[in-house]
Amino acid sequence: MPTLNQQTGPEQAARKRIKDSHALDGDVGRLAHFYRGWASSYELDVDREGYCGPTVVAELASAMQTAYFANERAAIAILDAGCGTGLVGAQLKRLGFQLLDGFDLSEEMAEKARKTRFYRHVQGDVNLNGPLSDYSSATYDITICCGVFTLGHVRPDALRELARVTRPNGFIIASTRKSYAEATSFEDEVRRLEDAGMLVTAQCLKNGKYMAEEGAHYWVFEVPARTSAPAG
Ligand SMILES: C[S@@+](CC[C@H](N)C(=O)[O-])C[C@H]1O[C@@H](n2cnc3c(N)ncnc32)[C@H](O)[C@@H]1O
Repeated sequence: MPTLNQQTGPEQAARKRIKDSHALDGDVGRLAHFYRGWASSYELDVDREGYCGPTVVAELASAMQTAYFANERAAIAILDAGCGTGLVGAQLKRLGFQLLDGFDLSEEMAEKARKTRFYRHVQGDVNLNGPLSDYSSATYDITICCGVFTLGHVRPDALRELARVTRPNGFIIASTRKSYAEATSFEDEVRRLEDAGMLVTAQCLKNGKYMAEEGAHYWVFEVPARTSAPAG
């Protein structure tokens, strides 16, 4: 990794925007405003920083489908929560998944994802720090949340809604940046949801590659069959 002095102007600017995005305190207005301004250069910035989260989560989805699902890949319904500009959708398409929905807090990021045409439906102005009221329970085979359990973005208790919209015996696949995992109660929330029978940790890839700046943990949770919430 180049030191600060060896970084070019665009690299320094990209790293600053990424850092600034972590200081938004989960404030919906500030997050939406920040990503409105970042939507046009987001992909270039994260590419400069070697962002590989979308590849890892899509490959985990691929492995779970091959190992556990009877349905062929093209029939697996996936929700990309906090889809941003659609980088996860691009990787899922590459691997043969076709039934993709996405949502994001930022309408500008969501519009970029819509334009990729990787998704059936993309909704903007959806806040993962609250109830996902437009999404029915037990709908998706796999729910993915990549790059969103990040400082200043989404609280750990958002996992609860991700579990609700995922069908019994389906999977939630999520990244947690290392700094987020260290600073928040994400693992406590996982234990609470496990104790409540709402999810089971199926896999955790600790300290995986994520970005030049820092790594991430990658989680695969299974939603158990017996305790799924009634369809709503
Ligand atoms: C770092 S980007 C990751 C985007 C995409 N998943 C990826 O991997 O490229 C974080 C995304 O989370 C969205 N976001 C932040 N807070 C959110 C919230 N409370 N609810 C839904 N989306 C949120 C942002 O708008 C942004 O698109």
